[in-house]
Amino acid sequence: MTAAPGARVAVGVLASGRGSNLQAILDAAARPDYPARVALVVSDREQAQALERARVCGVPAVWANPKDFGDRTAYDAELRRLLEDAGVGLVCLAGFMRILTPGFVRAWAGRILNVHPSLLPAFPGLHAQRQALEHGVRVAGATVHFVDEGVDTGPIVLQASVPVRPDDTEDALSARILAEEHRLYPEAIRLFAEGKLTISGRKVTIR
Ligand code: GRF
Repeated sequence: MTAAPGARVAVGVLASGRGSNLQAILDAAARPDYPARVALVVSDREQAQALERARVCGVPAVWANPKDFGDRTAYDAELRRLLEDAGVGLVCLAGFMRILTPGFVRAWAGRILNVHPSLLPAFPGLHAQRQALEHGVRVAGATVHFVDEGVDTGPIVLQASVPVRPDDTEDALSARILAEEHRLYPEAIRLFAEGKLTISGRKVTIR
């Protein structure tokens, strides 16, 4: 299916840092036949490279400073306001280092994706690549999943594996996984935007 430009799904990306996954999404969205566009990037960190990447592409980029809000509920209400004002239909977490409140997650249920650098459900949370190396696994990978109220627990959309080499460092393994993240995330967004994903319970069906 080729979506008409006017019908492209508006994506809001939340990112705290480097923004290489955001870049992969921006690059995909630059292709005329891609069915989604990045409508807004929000970061909780003023210096996030992600904000600069958005600005370079002419995408509205907003720093929402957590210190300006009394608590997580108030902060997430601001996120909701920003996303809704931008007409966002899909929220993508891309290295966003905050846990979203249940109210936010419920408001966007079935419309929030995250990318995680492990083969979930193995190694959720921080430093997934280090966890994988310390555990001694021979295969690691990346996961794109819908976000539920847990940490890295939502229904899985796409996964890709990479080998773990005997002499791997955390940096080397992270780079190998990151290349897969950059491939998977735009693909998962495309499937969502084309209406090809159905969630039933834990399972995501891809048409
Ligand atoms: C990625 O490894 C992602 O899986 C994790 O945080 C990292 C973000 O990297 N959630 P980047 O900011 O997209 O470069």
